[in-house]
Amino acid sequence: MTDASTGAMTPATSGVLLVLAHPALERSRANRALAKAAKGYAGVTFKDLYETYPDFVIDIETEQAALRAHQVVALQFPLYWYSTPALLKEWLDLVWLHGFAYGEDGEALKGKTLFVACTTGASAKAYHAHGYNRFSMDEFLRPLEQTAHLCGMVWETPFVVHGASVKDDAALKAEAERYKARIASLLPTKTEA
Ligand SMILES: Cc1cc2nc3c(=O)[nH]c(=O)nc-3n(C[C@H](O)[C@H](O)[C@H](O)COP(=O)(O)O)c2cc1C
Repeated sequence: MTDASTGAMTPATSGVLLVLAHPALERSRANRALAKAAKGYAGVTFKDLYETYPDFVIDIETEQAALRAHQVVALQFPLYWYSTPALLKEWLDLVWLHGFAYGEDGEALKGKTLFVACTTGASAKAYHAHGYNRFSMDEFLRPLEQTAHLCGMVWETPFVVHGASVKDDAALKAEAERYKARIASLLPTKTEA
């Protein structure tokens, strides 16, 4: 694809598909603040999974088209039972299919980037071999990291907000700015476009 004004080649896919999964966003503080900071950003397509699919009936074709159209897939969620909220798991199960995301001819996500943004109730200290959650955040996120690997995606260092429930508004605002900067760093620069 060529940019008419500059003659520069632009990638067929670009930008960040930001997929938010929070079952009670109206009661959220952390994810709401993060989403608010990132979703208006040029180049970011925002999708609130629980708002789009309150009955868990996912439009697979629409979701696959959205994935194809973006270079970066960002998954944002609160950590629930050391994992993703249920609808995000359902979305992965139903949309990231054999023949699409992996397996024979399953190359739709190959070369794209997977970026995880996650909030936790517990503090950073808890996510340690000697902490009460016993394992690191990297360890809890291994299933997603391996999913990226299986699909030929690049695994971006995750963005994690620990102790999200006890952070005051100023601290959450600072995290939201940090998040916005991470999202911006994943967007193509003008010279790449
Ligand atoms: C069902 C449920 C399961 C949770 N599981 C975890 C968990 O495994 N580890 C953790 O640190 N916090 C856990 N939490 C706390 C949430 O991660 C925390 O409340 C959330 O990240 C705060 O973000 P929010 O303000 O956007 O809701 C859980 C909360 C709920 C409701």
